[in-house]
Amino acid sequence: MTNVAILGYGTIGSGVAKVIKENQDVIKLNSGDDIKVSKILDLRDFPGDENESLITHDYEEIVNDPDIDIVVETMGGTKPAFDFVKRAILAGKSVCTSNKALVADHGTELIRTAKEKNVKFYFEASVGGGIPILRPLKTCIVADQVESIRGILNGTTNFILTKMEKDGASYEDVLKEAQSLGYAEADPTADVEGFDTCRKIAILTALTYGAQVDYQDIDTKGITQITSEDMEYAQKINRKIKLLGMSKKENGKLYALVAPYMLDENDPLFPVSGVFNAITVKGNMLGDVMFYGQGAGKEATASAVVTDIVEAVKKHGEPLDIRWEAEKLTVESADELEDRFFVRLSSQDAAAADTLLDYERIEGVIPGEVGFITKKMTYTELQGKLDGLNALSVIRYA
Ligand code: HSE
Repeated sequence: MTNVAILGYGTIGSGVAKVIKENQDVIKLNSGDDIKVSKILDLRDFPGDENESLITHDYEEIVNDPDIDIVVETMGGTKPAFDFVKRAILAGKSVCTSNKALVADHGTELIRTAKEKNVKFYFEASVGGGIPILRPLKTCIVADQVESIRGILNGTTNFILTKMEKDGASYEDVLKEAQSLGYAEADPTADVEGFDTCRKIAILTALTYGAQVDYQDIDTKGITQITSEDMEYAQKINRKIKLLGMSKKENGKLYALVAPYMLDENDPLFPVSGVFNAITVKGNMLGDVMFYGQGAGKEATASAVVTDIVEAVKKHGEPLDIRWEAEKLTVESADELEDRFFVRLSSQDAAAADTLLDYERIEGVIPGEVGFITKKMTYTELQGKLDGLNALSVIRYA
């Protein structure tokens, strides 16, 4: 019997209890053991809930309980999650978490400590919700040099962009609708400014290259500047605007960024709509592979957490199979990453730009302005060319 404690009985934590109960037979077959939730930590009481009797408000009851083998952390944030998780590991318990902030901020230390204590620290659900991506990266794509990772890693922003594209509505109106449907938080900053995607691409990059990536080094731009006019241009040229988290090796340098991109219809990420997430990984031998599914949501995310539990049970006593060294990877400025760019200028500025930009022009979409698609250049070069002009929009174009 493996006893599990859950920290945080919110959406994901209650989902973990549900998956363990409803799928107990298959979980036993795959892990070789009975897995039981024996304690749940939450500040709240849950009168009438089927797990009411398991609730405790005191973390000491969990960390000091020798019968608890695995701690699931689904509280979110880093305080007190980091303290609780570190203490659980030091107490010899494996930890499975869905918390990307915890992993992005403290992954290096928690992995090192878990190795020292010979327990597991797994975090499959922290990126891409229910999509299996971290384990495949470490167990399946191991004969390749990974050249790039590109992902739609945030359901909220993909929902908003998809709605803007389909309804022709403004960012502000669609955000309100997303909030009323529960797809966006009351304070949507972390999603719409790209911070959530930034932590996820930091984790993917660290895991891929086996060393720490500071998410603060990743140039991050969200979707708040995307307008219905940008969408009209995208539609006219059969493109879609998607918020991508990306890291890429070029000429021996590592670039990482979060930015909206205008994607071509042949791009595998082009059809990924609504709250869905997808990640493409390019190996030097393998070429592109893609992972697609629900990047958020109770059962899907909980399923990934429980998969981690099954792995922790199966591999109990074995050394932690994650390479993530403290050595910090240098992330180059995204300003120096070459891309093509979509630029909107007023007709007056467009005349001045004629001599500056090597471009394709898109006319007749919005009166009084012109859209340009530049040749490949760095953002720094583009800024130089646009000096003195008032660009109405600049979006990377893949
Ligand atoms: N707010 C996140 C999203 C939740 O929309 O993808 C999952 O990390």
